[in-house]
Amino acid sequence: MNLFDVYPLNDIEIAKAQGSHVWDANGQQYLDLYGGHAVISIGHTHPHYVGRLTDQLGKVGFYSNSVKIPLQVQLAEKLGQVSGKPAYQLFLCNSGAEANENALKLASFYNGRKKVIAFKGAFHGRTSLAVAVTDNPKIVAPVNENPHVIFLPHNNEVALEETFKAQGNEIAAVIIEGIQGVGGIKEASKSFLQKIRSLCDEYNAVYIADSVQCGYGRTGLFYSHDYAGVEADVYTMAKGMGNGFPVAGISIAPKFKPWHGELGTTFGGNHLACAAALAVLEIMDQDQLMKNAEEVGNYLIAELRKFEQVKEVRGRGLMIGIELPEELAHVKKDLLFKHFIFTGEAKPNVIRLLPALNLTKAQADEFLTAFGKLVK
Ligand SMILES: Cc1ncc(COP(=O)(O)O)c(C=O)c1O
Repeated sequence: MNLFDVYPLNDIEIAKAQGSHVWDANGQQYLDLYGGHAVISIGHTHPHYVGRLTDQLGKVGFYSNSVKIPLQVQLAEKLGQVSGKPAYQLFLCNSGAEANENALKLASFYNGRKKVIAFKGAFHGRTSLAVAVTDNPKIVAPVNENPHVIFLPHNNEVALEETFKAQGNEIAAVIIEGIQGVGGIKEASKSFLQKIRSLCDEYNAVYIADSVQCGYGRTGLFYSHDYAGVEADVYTMAKGMGNGFPVAGISIAPKFKPWHGELGTTFGGNHLACAAALAVLEIMDQDQLMKNAEEVGNYLIAELRKFEQVKEVRGRGLMIGIELPEELAHVKKDLLFKHFIFTGEAKPNVIRLLPALNLTKAQADEFLTAFGKLVK
């Protein structure tokens, strides 16, 4: 049997990983500023994480949501505390797309409406409704085309206002990333997020903050959207939540009242997933990783802005996009194969940095030195 060949692969096999480093099967060490696509939040194979998961596996790895799972309650409590939203409610699932799918469904159940506003450049996942609100026709199968989705230009308050004015009573939800990731590290402006909040309040629509990539402390705030000073009704999260263990969730405002059967999943919130997510939050809290993400991230952004060859540096904290001119299109590849540094990318020519939140300043400097050599 062959693998279904949907991923373009680098010819590298990772055999070992620790902190912000990985090693290939030949023993070559790499600095990891990609975190397997923003997933590694507390560093690879963190001893507390390994210990908590191993210990849990020896007790009970899985039982379904038909019994009490106290670890879920502990996780909800810790997440409420670390995210600064103790009154919100937690629904656990397994991936970012599933989190968005459930958030949209919840919104529609809440106000009984069908239309969803999403934005140009958005990526929300690959399941049916998540992909329908994703701005990439290439990955939307005919069966996923959805007449209820309205795409508006990003950060355009006039277009948003006009759409609400014309059909506000039909809008179930507005879904937006705090910083577009796949779209190339493009930040939603403070005033745009404030406008979404006020229009959702006025028309009883649901503001969904997709925090799958930009959330979980990456920008220095738990949810990057909150820098606008207004709260979303629902926050979706995944990537950094389990440091590699598949776990996702939605944080739901108190005004939503659940009913039995409204949402559900077989694997969501299983014992191992909760142990992984708790280990991550405990380390984030204990080691003040959000503060570190803000400090090291802002240092990196300031230093990167000094390179005149760079077109633009975007982002906040440890979610950084470096837009390069066409003639420097080779830099990402050279970072990996000449300097052994993993980074991410966005089309057409943006390098994305999404490292673990405990990246050190020395590691940031190592990257800056290599980057400096390549752009000269
Ligand atoms: C902002 C955003 N939302 C949703 C998703 C989908 O997450 P998953 O791949 O876990 O389904 C992604 C994945 O890259 C993402 O970046």
